[in-house]
Amino acid sequence: MSRPVLVSGIQPTGNLHLGNYLGAVKNWVDLQNSGKYEMYIFIADLHALTGNLEAEQRQAQVQQTAAELLAIGLDPEKTTLFIQSQVPGHTELGWIFSCLTPLAELQRMTQYKDKSRQQAKNINAGLLTYPILQAADILLYRGTVVPVGQDQVQHVELTRDIGRWFNQRYGEYFSPVNPLLTAVPRVMSLLEPDRKMSKSLGAGQVIELGDDPETIIKKLKKAVTATTGGKMAPGVANLLLLLKSFERTEEWEKFVAAEKDGTIRYGDLKTAVAETLINAFADFRQKKQQWLDQPEKLGAVLQAGAKQATVVATETLTAVRERVGIN
Ligand code: ADP
Ligand code: TRP
Repeated sequence: MSRPVLVSGIQPTGNLHLGNYLGAVKNWVDLQNSGKYEMYIFIADLHALTGNLEAEQRQAQVQQTAAELLAIGLDPEKTTLFIQSQVPGHTELGWIFSCLTPLAELQRMTQYKDKSRQQAKNINAGLLTYPILQAADILLYRGTVVPVGQDQVQHVELTRDIGRWFNQRYGEYFSPVNPLLTAVPRVMSLLEPDRKMSKSLGAGQVIELGDDPETIIKKLKKAVTATTGGKMAPGVANLLLLLKSFERTEEWEKFVAAEKDGTIRYGDLKTAVAETLINAFADFRQKKQQWLDQPEKLGAVLQAGAKQATVVATETLTAVRERVGIN
């Protein structure tokens, strides 16, 4: 029996942070190690073209993201890891899908609306058609399982629709796609805990997996814990969630009890979270540097991944071209 195909990607627009890790990337590693899936993970550099990075920054960021994904535990023996733009089929399938997707479906996407606000001077057509390329990323490998954070669920649902529209028009080919969420689908910002932790909010708001111990301590000291009413403050809930997510169960229980009876000291909570994170990513920091110090080895891994991915991509495109009538 063949295993279900799992596909996910990440834009190379900044270093991995705790939101990416707990919302998606940790899950990729766990799912990979479960052995249950045929795994495709890629760096979505074509998607990142919709943003504002300069060409040199872009190149460097792809290397950083690749080094980080390997350092966190993706294993090229078990996962096909590649750069999206190195497999030409993504854009071709994306074009075919764009001719099946109603414009209104794209215009209602939350990410499109958010990004149009965030980069009001650069509302390019790619921002709108972004989810079509994402659908192509997934269906090019005939993926059915897509582990992502909560903010991407809408895009995965649209992917399922696009697969269905294709099947209705050209005959049954793609299987239904489902998102796979982690137990922590949404990590909040440190400084504005009512917003999701995101690179686009700025460095002080996120903890990067590669942050050195001093930076982690400094960022946590500034984390907002102020209460807004009788309920638990969102910033406190977020710090407790972090402690729990890294399996510091005993301490988590202690702080939850202290929060309830009003004896909690937020300084102590921040110190506990800082210690946890410093330990959790010590090995990651070292491995990341090792990969960055060996750019040829890194390049070879990515090239081998692209080659493997291209085999499956070509199969899918051949079948799709035939069905569509353009071969
Ligand atoms: P960012 O918002 O920092 O630009 P991306 O959009 O590149 O992050 O997200 C990459 C992956 O990480 C996606 O699967 C996304 O759902 C997940 N993710 C990003 N931020 C968070 C968060 N704060 N909480 C949970 N998951 C997140
Ligand atoms: N849009 C995703 C994000 O911003 C990245 C992405 C691109 C992706 N293509 C994908 C995720 C395909 C899952 C599957 O995080």
